[in-house]
Amino acid sequence: MAFTIAIDGPAAAGKGTISKAVSDHFGYGHLDTGLLYRVVGARMLDGAEPVAAAEALEVVDLERDDLRTAEVAQAASKVAVIAGVRAALVDFQRAFARRSGGAVMDGRDIGTVICPEAEVKLFVTASAEVRATRRFLELTGKGSIITLEEVLADVRARDERDMNRAEAPLRPAEDAVTIDTSSLSIEEAIGQAVAVVEARQ
Ligand code: C5P
Repeated sequence: MAFTIAIDGPAAAGKGTISKAVSDHFGYGHLDTGLLYRVVGARMLDGAEPVAAAEALEVVDLERDDLRTAEVAQAASKVAVIAGVRAALVDFQRAFARRSGGAVMDGRDIGTVICPEAEVKLFVTASAEVRATRRFLELTGKGSIITLEEVLADVRARDERDMNRAEAPLRPAEDAVTIDTSSLSIEEAIGQAVAVVEARQ
């Protein structure tokens, strides 16, 4: 039976970690939908036209190893404002969401646009400062030379674009449960998410 869990929220709020843990806990599939936009952003940086790149997207593209860079993240949020790019990625996401055995989908517009019928909707958020600090530690831990101020400016620029775009702006669905991870440990945040899902099963 299909069971869809939509997990939306801004960059670096803990969505990815929570989504992975929830999918492991329930044995569901997990799709990080940001990767789709990152592939299109990376293709644009390679010189491709974004809508054509979105239409040509294949599963293997999600394995490109440069998708996690700050440059590709910014490019992803730029291509994500283009209606034709978003439209080209809908079917792939809906097909994954309805796969048998359950699916956890994380992104920005899953509960509002892609899967408005999802059985569970979570909105995972945290203050911009907390999110930037987490992302800074993650990037410097991997050897990036970057300052906290640069990461905070990047997070704010992406928030601004994601929340104010005309197409599928980032916002909680009316029936979403919000989890603010600013002062939660990873374990506490995962525990809250699992409890919400269990209450709906
Ligand atoms: O989640 P992640 O940081 O990988 O997403 C990269 C960018 O892709 C976001 O800043 C956002 O602009 C876009 N995105 C989106 N809709 C989604 C997932 C990601 O617009 N469902």
